[in-house]
Amino acid sequence: MYLQTTRLIIRNFDDKDLETFLAYRNDPDVARYQGWGLPYSREKGEALIASMKSDSTLLLDGWSQFAVALKETDELIGDLGCRIKRDDPRQARIGFSLASRYWRKGFITEAAAGLLRRLFEELNMHRVTADCDVENIASYRTLEKLGFRREAHFVESFLVDGIYTSEYHYAMLQSEWRDRLKGG
Ligand SMILES: CC(C)(COP(=O)(O)OP(=O)(O)OC[C@H]1O[C@@H](n2cnc3c(N)ncnc32)[C@H](O)[C@@H]1OP(=O)(O)O)[C@@H](O)C(=O)NCCC(=O)NCCS
Repeated sequence: MYLQTTRLIIRNFDDKDLETFLAYRNDPDVARYQGWGLPYSREKGEALIASMKSDSTLLLDGWSQFAVALKETDELIGDLGCRIKRDDPRQARIGFSLASRYWRKGFITEAAAGLLRRLFEELNMHRVTADCDVENIASYRTLEKLGFRREAHFVESFLVDGIYTSEYHYAMLQSEWRDRLKGG
């Protein structure tokens, strides 16, 4: 994986990313609506980076994680996840996280738009989905800014630490991506 946007590079993880990756994965603000649980151990971080660093293709029915780095310095600032549906490789799910000091500067919108371009335009995806906790305003605002359509509101559907939380599910079709590019 290698993609460039105006300010960012989206690339495979590298060993040099470990400390930064562990720092933001262990930030309670970043982890609040994520499923990885705290503390996020060094062993887990090393294993994730080891499994992702040589991976140049998207995995079938497994999460592929890609590093989001600043173009100027190659410093890791976050990551994008993508999971191809096993029984239909033209459908994918995406996710994202960013170190909190970089929030609200448009970075994830920029990075995710780069990934969507690759998915829809080069890999000919038919449909891309994403979901989030209904309280995760930053996540659903980002999805809506990218052009995702809210398709579902599942009420108290997801058990997190003994509490049932509610979720929004979003989707975008290739035709909707193309219409957006045309300004439709
Ligand atoms: C979700 C996340 C990646 C957003 O990253 P970001 O780079 O700050 O997002 P952007 O700057 O591209 O903002 C996208 C839109 O969301 C809005 N937004 C971002 N954070 C917001 C917040 N806390 N409250 C309200 N709106 C917010 C922005 O204003 C922008 O919309 P606008 O341009 O119309 O104003 C970041 O908050 C994060 O890493 N959160 C923790 C991990 C997480 O929960 N990931 C999603 C799991 S489903």
